[in-house]
Amino acid sequence: MTHSPTRRTVLLCTGAATLAVSCGGGGGDGGGAGNTGSPTAPPGRELAPTSDIPVGGGKIFDAEKIVVTQPEKGDFKAFSAVCTHQGCIVSQVRDGTIDCACHGSRFAITDGAVERGPATKPLPEKRITVEGNSVRLV
Ligand code: FES
Repeated sequence: MTHSPTRRTVLLCTGAATLAVSCGGGGGDGGGAGNTGSPTAPPGRELAPTSDIPVGGGKIFDAEKIVVTQPEKGDFKAFSAVCTHQGCIVSQVRDGTIDCACHGSRFAITDGAVERGPATKPLPEKRITVEGNSVRLV
């Protein structure tokens, strides 16, 4: 007879402690998506394995409108794939440049600078990270 209220009290306290820990552990950092239960998950989402990006070249990701280059082994860069001339998506990466087929502009794979017009502005740089063998969009 007397043990039932004691047991109920213990359960309520346990529930309250769990709630307090849960509330205390989940707030404040604003770390973004994927921050629950996976503290080692790398940031961003995978764009491609590093092996997909040729050294001295690059790869265009049409859906993301991004071109990722690897001017030197292990040195990855990313730029907007939207040509700064009139907005076409660049068409190929070849011979050290990112090329737009619409009017022939070419941009350096190292920094997106204009190598040949009619474009006058460089391709804007985009943020990526490399985690292990994965190129990730931040
Ligand atoms: Fe790319 Fe004109 S839109 S060169």
